[in-house]
Amino acid sequence: MTDKVTASAPGKLILFGEHAVVYGHPCIVTAVDQRLFVTVERNGKDTFHLSAPDLGLTAYSKTTNDLGGSGLPKAVRFIEVFYKRFLEKYPQERGIDVVTKSEFSDSFGFGSSSAATVAFAKALVELYEIDLTDKELFDFCYGAVLEVQGVGSGFDVAAAIYGGTIYYVTPGKVIETIYEEELPIEVGYTGIKADTPTLVRQVAELKRKKPRTVRGIFDQIDKVTKEAKRKLMEENFAEVGKLMVENQNLLNELGISSVELDRLNKVSMEAGALGAKLSGAGGGDCMIAVVDGKKNEVVKAMKKNGEWLDVIIGAEGVRVETDE
Ligand code: PMV
Repeated sequence: MTDKVTASAPGKLILFGEHAVVYGHPCIVTAVDQRLFVTVERNGKDTFHLSAPDLGLTAYSKTTNDLGGSGLPKAVRFIEVFYKRFLEKYPQERGIDVVTKSEFSDSFGFGSSSAATVAFAKALVELYEIDLTDKELFDFCYGAVLEVQGVGSGFDVAAAIYGGTIYYVTPGKVIETIYEEELPIEVGYTGIKADTPTLVRQVAELKRKKPRTVRGIFDQIDKVTKEAKRKLMEENFAEVGKLMVENQNLLNELGISSVELDRLNKVSMEAGALGAKLSGAGGGDCMIAVVDGKKNEVVKAMKKNGEWLDVIIGAEGVRVETDE
């Protein structure tokens, strides 16, 4: 019998289609090579114990029939809610000890909550020898993420499970791997943490006030995303870059960019990038630039105007690391 399993899942960056994806349009998302690790160990007791030192939490404990409820600390919310749902479906006699460890900061917008949920889920199903397909794992994880967050298209959960670069339609209606290699993309970080649910609600409010305008913007983002999928598959990065600029302009119309994001986009383009745009909900977090030949110049410009994140784009999805 296995007593202890460690699994890891990658962080993510959205390349095209943010916000529109919430309303049924496609997006393109990629996994990054910085991972979140979760170790799960049988503890022989009736408790759930969690330690997440990266998030300042070291000794969180509850009995297994007392899981969930309101006011859960942010660091445990996703894992605890998933565990509660897991035990409802696959009851177990005894509890577990959980330890998380992340290679990336939860301020980057790399999707630490969904990566934690996915890595935890994978470790649990491995521990109890439950056979799930990737899609079943996706549905299970996305259900828990939605219960905690209330909003979200689930693209981040898909990236954490499948890895590579995928074309995604919510709620997992389409999950198609379109590119498996590393992409020539550099990542700039504004230093500002964005609150995704707030920005999603801001766009919802705009859509309520100006439904036709916002629907028109979403339709154009839809076209850009579908075209970007074709160009990515053809490895035509000059065209991918142009489409990023188009996507950024449409996001500007939604009013979710920021001074810092605009500046990083501008200096990357001036340094020779083929295209640049914000990545994610907007308001802060990261931007991305397609780079061909001018990598050093673009990296230098990013460092001068924000932070350059040294990540490889297009990494492997969730995996079991050790099994004892
Ligand atoms: O802020 P991020 O990187 O989690 O991206 C949010 C993307 C949205 O489309 C705005 C929301 C979603 O759940 O798809």
